[in-house]
Amino acid sequence: MEIGNLLGLTVLVLQESLFTGSIPSSIGRLQNLSALLLGKNKFSGPISSSLSNITSLITLSLDNNRLQGNIPANLGKLRNLQELDLSYNNLRGVIPDQVFTLPSLSISLDLSENSFSGPLPRQVGKLKHIGKLFLMNNKLTGKIPSELGDCESLEYLVLSGNHLEGTIPVSFSNLKGLLGLDLSRNNLSGQIPNYMGELFFQSLNLSYNDFEGVVPKEGVFRNVSAFSVIENNKLCGGISELLLPVCIISASKKHGNSSPLKVIIPCLVSMLKVGVACSSDLPKERMDIKDVIRELITAKEVFLGVGIHRERHNETEAEGEGKIPASLSACSQLRRILLHNNKLVGKISLELGDLSKLSTFATNGNDLSGEIPASFGNLSSLQYLSVSRNRLEGSLPDLGCLRNLIFLTVGANKFTGIVPPSLYNLSSLEIFTMEVNRLHGSLPPDLGRTLPNLQSFSVANNVTPPKLAS
Ligand SMILES: *[C@@H]1O[C@H](CO)[C@@H](O)[C@H](O)[C@H]1NC(C)=O
Ligand SMILES: *[C@@H]1O[C@H](CO)[C@@H](O)[C@H](O)[C@H]1NC(C)=O
Ligand SMILES: *[C@@H]1O[C@H](CO)[C@@H](O)[C@H](O)[C@H]1NC(C)=O
Ligand SMILES: *[C@@H]1O[C@H](CO)[C@@H](O)[C@H](O)[C@H]1NC(C)=O
Ligand SMILES: *[C@@H]1O[C@H](CO)[C@@H](O)[C@H](O)[C@H]1NC(C)=O
Ligand SMILES: *[C@@H]1O[C@H](CO)[C@@H](O)[C@H](O)[C@H]1NC(C)=O
Ligand SMILES: *[C@@H]1O[C@H](CO)[C@@H](O)[C@H](O)[C@H]1NC(C)=O
Ligand SMILES: *[C@@H]1O[C@H](CO)[C@@H](O)[C@H](O)[C@H]1NC(C)=O
Repeated sequence: MEIGNLLGLTVLVLQESLFTGSIPSSIGRLQNLSALLLGKNKFSGPISSSLSNITSLITLSLDNNRLQGNIPANLGKLRNLQELDLSYNNLRGVIPDQVFTLPSLSISLDLSENSFSGPLPRQVGKLKHIGKLFLMNNKLTGKIPSELGDCESLEYLVLSGNHLEGTIPVSFSNLKGLLGLDLSRNNLSGQIPNYMGELFFQSLNLSYNDFEGVVPKEGVFRNVSAFSVIENNKLCGGISELLLPVCIISASKKHGNSSPLKVIIPCLVSMLKVGVACSSDLPKERMDIKDVIRELITAKEVFLGVGIHRERHNETEAEGEGKIPASLSACSQLRRILLHNNKLVGKISLELGDLSKLSTFATNGNDLSGEIPASFGNLSSLQYLSVSRNRLEGSLPDLGCLRNLIFLTVGANKFTGIVPPSLYNLSSLEIFTMEVNRLHGSLPPDLGRTLPNLQSFSVANNVTPPKLAS
């Protein structure tokens, strides 16, 4: 092809023409070309640096080919270029600063669907007149440079499908003309800025990131078809259609500690999963909705540390039965479980042994069955363990590592076997009662020395009362 001889050409359109091989460097001789459209062919090899000689170019589109290698820095010589489309190729490397300093670039810059890597250069802020910037599905890393907020003419900005992290820059509040913003499928975090509800958006996509906190309800956030925040597991609030958990504003937020939402949201999500599980069984096996609601309310009150002190025999209120949800183990910050004097049934879940901050476990006066899980020996913060008056059985677990345990009551159950000797070594114990069980074994002779703080101790009414060692 002797295309390089058509020197007077001003527009060259060779789209969708099944061209293969490299872009002929003789094209660089077409000094009067204003538009070069070579998209949707099978051009391969690098972008010919001869193109940089066509300084009259206004539009250059090489999209949907098989071009490889880096963007040549000398494309920066195309001082009249208004539109550059290199999308859908196999281009790679860091995007050269020279692309962002092209002085006339104003219509659009499309580098999407390639393998560009490294951070997005700060020079991107030089694109003061750019209307559309598409960088989706590359391998960009690092933070979104705050200079991007200088691109005040932007109407569409798409950065989806990269590895960007950090927060949405505050400078985005300058992008007053933005109609569409897609930051989906990155690793962005932090809060969704409130000003996003004040900008004029037709569409906003923040899905598949790691955003947390409150979803605004203003502007674009009013129209559920105009925005997406799905797959950000730490969000709360927003319009009700989002079905996100309610935001819980905790007093501890004032102290500048890490957000309590980080803890509470996953916890709430686990509660929700309980609810969903309850309703997905066969209708025959499904829990009565009244029971589901009661269970969720119980769970909610529990993880907020609000004890439930209902009278066991107040039938008007405490009708029905429930279990202690195993999913409470997801509430890793939980300190107190107060469920005494209810009608709880079922077993105490092994998983509750994961609650490393738990200091109080009070489930006395219920109808719990099974054993105290061995995992309770791992609850190193536990100070108060009360499971008396249930139908618990098996042997008492080894709690020898619970150096902080002050209160241990296991009376009026069906415990069997020998009292683990390590229990007599818990030097913090003040109250230790295990009456009315089927325990046996012998009491150590030096109880007063190993349990110096003991105030109350009872082994009465065991089938074979533990004998006092001689
Ligand atoms: C390029 O354009 C200029 C100005 O319109 C014109 O004078 C010149 O002849 C053109 N060159 C060719 C090779 O046609
Ligand atoms: C660009 O044009 C100059 C002068 O016409 C020429 O010497 C040079 O080889 C060209 N560069 C490329 C990369 O084609
Ligand atoms: C996202 O960021 C977090 C924290 O910066 C990091 O641990 C994690 O590996 C990142 N995930 C991806 C998919 O890049
Ligand atoms: C948002 O982005 C995700 C992932 O990129 C995509 O699947 C979804 O269709 C987009 N939603 C909207 C409303 O644009
Ligand atoms: C909500 O957003 C959709 C999709 O962008 C749009 O078609 C519709 O007109 C918007 N509705 C309102 C009330 O703004
Ligand atoms: C039982 O519950 C009802 C309803 O909440 C309450 O009004 C009543 O005082 C309770 N009775 C006792 C004995 O606590
Ligand atoms: C106690 O914790 C350790 C370490 O997390 C774990 O390996 C062990 O299985 C736990 N013990 C029980 C009885 O759950
Ligand atoms: C109790 O403590 C003593 C002294 O620390 C230790 O020698 C003994 O092995 C412990 N006994 C049990 C059963 O843990």
